Amino acid sequence: MILKGNFIWMPAMDRLEVRENAWLVTSGETVVGIYDQLPPEYAGQPVEDWSGKVIIPAFNDLHIHAPQFLNRGIGYDTRLLDWLDTYTFPLEARFRDLDFARRAWKVFLNRLWAAGTMRFSAFATIHKEAAWALMELTEQSGLRGLVGKVNMDRNSADNLREETAVSLADTEELICRSRAELKHVGFILTPRFVPSTTGALMDGLGQLGERYDLPVQSHLSENPSEVEWVRQLHPDIPTYTQVYENFGLLRKDKTIMAHAIYLSDGEKELLREKGVTLAHCPCSNVNLSSGVMPLRRNLEEGLRCCVASDVAGGHTAAMNRSVAAATALSKVNWLSHPEEAHLTLTESFYLATRGSGAFLGQVGSFEPGFQFDALVLSPADPAEDLLERTPVERLEQFLCDGDDRDIAARYCGGVLVKKPFATME
Ligand code: GUN
Ligand code: FE
Repeated sequence: MILKGNFIWMPAMDRLEVRENAWLVTSGETVVGIYDQLPPEYAGQPVEDWSGKVIIPAFNDLHIHAPQFLNRGIGYDTRLLDWLDTYTFPLEARFRDLDFARRAWKVFLNRLWAAGTMRFSAFATIHKEAAWALMELTEQSGLRGLVGKVNMDRNSADNLREETAVSLADTEELICRSRAELKHVGFILTPRFVPSTTGALMDGLGQLGERYDLPVQSHLSENPSEVEWVRQLHPDIPTYTQVYENFGLLRKDKTIMAHAIYLSDGEKELLREKGVTLAHCPCSNVNLSSGVMPLRRNLEEGLRCCVASDVAGGHTAAMNRSVAAATALSKVNWLSHPEEAHLTLTESFYLATRGSGAFLGQVGSFEPGFQFDALVLSPADPAEDLLERTPVERLEQFLCDGDDRDIAARYCGGVLVKKPFATME
């Protein structure tokens, strides 16, 4: 495939590449190169001509709760633990109904597609059938990523709690089934968080992780009451991070921990050693009054971080809005910690493309060998487009105030992806 347009991508957090009126050539799923002049060997081949349009890497959202998409925006005058009990658990319990679940997954996947998220790591629910349906529908959608059946066997409502052995057996069944039947969607171990998983369950999941060499996703140190609760549940283990480590759930270079706001220096050391990716979720952290992650400091201290939506703690799946929110929150943090420089808009953009893509492979950039995942930006209403703007200005405006109407095309793994589900049935 050959595309023409104005390409912007970030090979590093401090490097914004802009190539105007250039040609990008792909082979199969990946980028071959970007050229100012089309190399002669490609002459005469069809070109997807996006001249004048800005083309950027698609978003990768490493922390999102698929069932909670239906709850976005609701109940934010509570804090985490009350919010879970009042709004989140009752909704997730409904996914026992497979018919309902399939309709909800289609709504979710359509919206991710619309917003330009081509890859993600998602929590499903505890229900085996519903989780499998999300994996299958994701495969059908043309989007790619990781999906986890959630594990919960303590401190949960009666209609959202599993027997430990059943939870482990269901998980293993999905691991094997997804390996046998799916190409572009993988299984990720998903203990909800320490308060809802017993030591026995975490231990069993750690063993599955070893046996099948699986990635892991969970929540870590999001809210002070949660941190205190974990301390009471595991008085013999010094820190929240060490609880996961104790049960083999910090798998080297294969673990995503969401939030990670309240960390000691020792915990940071362990997270760095294990190459854990910290998913910073600015919308969620503000909505649930959880706190402010010291993002710049964490990055400077060598922790891997990315920007994620955490729907429905976050109120939107649109990653451009999380990018803008990460920048805004970082500025608020800078006002009270002037020694900690705030992130720029493009640095946050990096954390939602190449930064998050790194967890999934060679993803999130237009460097040779990377998966070709892209969004073509085009103003929704050309009549409103009164001023000449540079490609970078157009990117800035899209990140701050763009939506799906401003995306003319979406590519994932080297192919154009159309709206996945026309009907919800
Ligand atoms: N901690 C445990 N479960 C959840 C969840 O669903 N959302 C958020 N934001 N935090 C959690
Ligand atoms: Fe979350």
